[in-house]
This record gives sequence, structure tokens and C-alpha cells, in this order.
Amino acid sequence: MTSVATSVQVCEDCGTELDELNAAGVCPSCGGLLELRHVLVGEGPALRTRFADRRSALRGPDASGVWRYRELVLPSARPDEIVTHPEGNTPLLDSRAVARWIGFESPERLLIKHEGHNPTGSFKDRGMTVAITQAKRSSARAVACASTGNTSASLAAYAARAELPALVFVPKGKVAGGKLAQTIAYGARTLFVRGGFDECLTLARSASAELGIHLLNSVNPFRIEGQKSIVFELLEQLEWRAPDWIALPAGNLGNTSAFGKALRDARESGLIDRVPRLCAVQAEGAAPFARSFEHGFAERVTVQPETIATAIRIGAPASWNRAVRAMRETNGVATSVTDAEILEAKAVIDAAGIGCEPASAASVAGVRKLLASGTISRDDRVVSVLTGHLLKDPDAVAEYHAARSADRPHANPPIEIEPLVSEVERVMRG
Ligand code: F0G
Repeated sequence: MTSVATSVQVCEDCGTELDELNAAGVCPSCGGLLELRHVLVGEGPALRTRFADRRSALRGPDASGVWRYRELVLPSARPDEIVTHPEGNTPLLDSRAVARWIGFESPERLLIKHEGHNPTGSFKDRGMTVAITQAKRSSARAVACASTGNTSASLAAYAARAELPALVFVPKGKVAGGKLAQTIAYGARTLFVRGGFDECLTLARSASAELGIHLLNSVNPFRIEGQKSIVFELLEQLEWRAPDWIALPAGNLGNTSAFGKALRDARESGLIDRVPRLCAVQAEGAAPFARSFEHGFAERVTVQPETIATAIRIGAPASWNRAVRAMRETNGVATSVTDAEILEAKAVIDAAGIGCEPASAASVAGVRKLLASGTISRDDRVVSVLTGHLLKDPDAVAEYHAARSADRPHANPPIEIEPLVSEVERVMRG
């Protein structure tokens, strides 16, 4: 890597500019969210070749599915500064069973980008490698986040790699078992806040500002830059032929914002010539963005969130304005699905041998709903993003499969037997 021009941070609300290493986190003038702007080097064909050449790297930043796209992520980072596992390089899968459940006649209409294949089992690692790298570059003493569990697991792991102390704020009793286990085991100081995610984020924001700790939630612009690589990588896996739709689950709206920015960058740098439509899917009990979409985003909605998909149990999403921009620029659609639809989608994805956590399945359930309503057409090509691994939430699996019932048609309850061949025979016949 040669040294290149640094990027600037620009306030999305008032236009204030800060230099790349400024660690303010939000605009010091108006409190607005910051966005990174890079000096673009190279264009479409040249960039594509450069990205492809790096695919052969066995170690170091080029082996990362985030840093391979560094011209569009954080061009000035030096290899020795980068904290990477590596991450990314997640598969783009097809599945006859999932496509059929959605209602597509051909399995080729649906591809599944499985972000659960990241080092800590969720897409958060893509943002965290950049945010932790940047925290180190700007001499952070400690890092923090509020989380429904995946961000905290990722922050804990990357902070440990960077040897930085980590502090996480999570809603007491509302974090899935796998995520909590990771967060604690990777060594983050874990605070059980008596409240939901929204209260955790408010507290994490004030505590970080007062105590001089770097806040690494997706309000942090460096997280967004890393998460854009989900889109770059899936476009590259499609040989830069854009699909018609990209569907993803939406909670705090950081990822929706990142996808919008990635598509803007890909279009502006000539990597693609057509922009897919985004489909942001929320859980019905935590759907402020989908509600607001129904009225053209005329007002910012907040709700008291409740859903089985604890990862997206969020009532006051922080990245609202930039997510609205993402939807407008991509002619996107926001929708919501019930917990029952989420659980059914998850059971189908799991039984297809792919597997995901409940929130992730919302993207597939949302595609099914929009296909049924005619918003998505049978000839469209759709990429659904699964954001987290099945093992993140083993309790959700145990509960669904405990017994078969009308509302649990895919349940696969374990069968207890005596240690006798006759018992096995009985089960096989049954
Ligand atoms: N899917 C999973 C598995 C998540 O963990 C999250 C967010 C989302 C989707 C939604 O992404 O917030 O950018 O709209 N999890 C955060 C966390 C809130 O703390 O782990 P978003």
C-alpha cells in the first residue's frame, strides 16, 4: 500500500468538516451524524481489477473481505495499523427450499448472502474492523457500545485483538445466549442496563462523551464504511451485475444506511451501472421505520419495541435520516413481518442447512411478503442478507422445536427413547 490522501468527515446535517482522525464521533456544531468522504482513486474497470487481484492474498489486509475494497472504505489506513481477523469473504448461496418457500419458481431468483460466516458470527465484524482500526489510529484509551448483542460480541473480540479496554451496555434479560457468552468471554466489561436498547444507546452516548471513551455504535461513521463492503462483495460475487433487490433486516438502521452509501459509491465510481432497490425489513412489534415509510417518511416515528428477534428490538433508530436517504436514492421499500413469519422463515432457512438467527430471517420473510403483494416480481433477482449465525440464539431454536403445533409446522422435536433397537425401529416407522 502506498500513502494516499486522507478522507474527511462531513456532518450530514450542517456540512461541518472534520479531519479524518478527529474522534468527536458526532458533529461538534449541531450534534448531527458524520459521514466519511474519500478522495476517489481509480474508476470502475481499474478498481474491479485491483479488487480481484487482491483475492489471491493469503494473509494480511488484502485477505479481508473489507480491506480488499479499501479505496472505498478507508484508503489512508496503513497495513500495520489494521486490526483484522480477517473478516468478510462470506458466501453467496442459493437454496431451492428457501426460494420455493418464498414463492419463486426458479431457485436462481434468490441468493442468500450469509454474514453469519464472519469471525464472531455476524455482519458487525465488517464495521468493527474499521472502527477499531480507527480508534487505535486516533489513540483511543477505551471503546464502548450499546448493543442487542452482536455489536457487543464483535466489539469485545476486536478490542481484545487491539488490546483496548471495552465497555458494553446491553439490555438486561434481552440478549441472546450466544451473543452474551461471546461478549463476556472476549473480555468486555459488560453492563446489564435495566432498560431496552434505546436506553442503552442514550446512556452509552452520554457516558462516552463525558468519560472520553470512543463510541463504536453504527452512529460512528467508520462502522458504516466497513459495512458497505457487504454490498461490494456481493456485487463482485455477481460479477458486478446488480440484482433487482437487496433485502436486509433493519433495527437501528446503520446497515440500511451503509447499503445506501455503498450503492451510491459503487454507482459513482462506475463499478455498477444500475442501482438495486433496497428492501428494509423490520419486526412488526419494532417497526418505526416501516410505519413511517407508509407515509413517505413524513415524520420520524418511535415505538415501544417488542419482538422475538431481540437483535432488532429497537424503537428509536439512531441512523434515521441517512436510512431515509438510502431508501429514497434506491427507490427502496420498508416493510414489517410478524414474529410468526420470522420464526417460520428461520425454520425454513435452518432446515435448508443454511441457518441464521431470528432477526436475520426477517429479510427472507419480507421478500416472501413483497412477492405475494406483487411489489417484487417473479422475474426479479433478489439477494437476501442473513446478518447473524444460527448459534447466536440457541434458545430460539429449542423453543420452536420443542413440540409440533399448527403455528410451528416445521418443528423437529427430539425424541426420547430407551437404549433399544426396537425403539429406534419404532421411530423409523413412525
Ligand atoms: N441483524 C442482526 C443479527 C443484528 O444484530 C442487527 C443489529 C440488525 C440485523 C440490524 O442492523 O441496527 O444496523 O439496522 N444489531 C445491533 C447490535 C443493534 O447491537 O448488535 P441495524
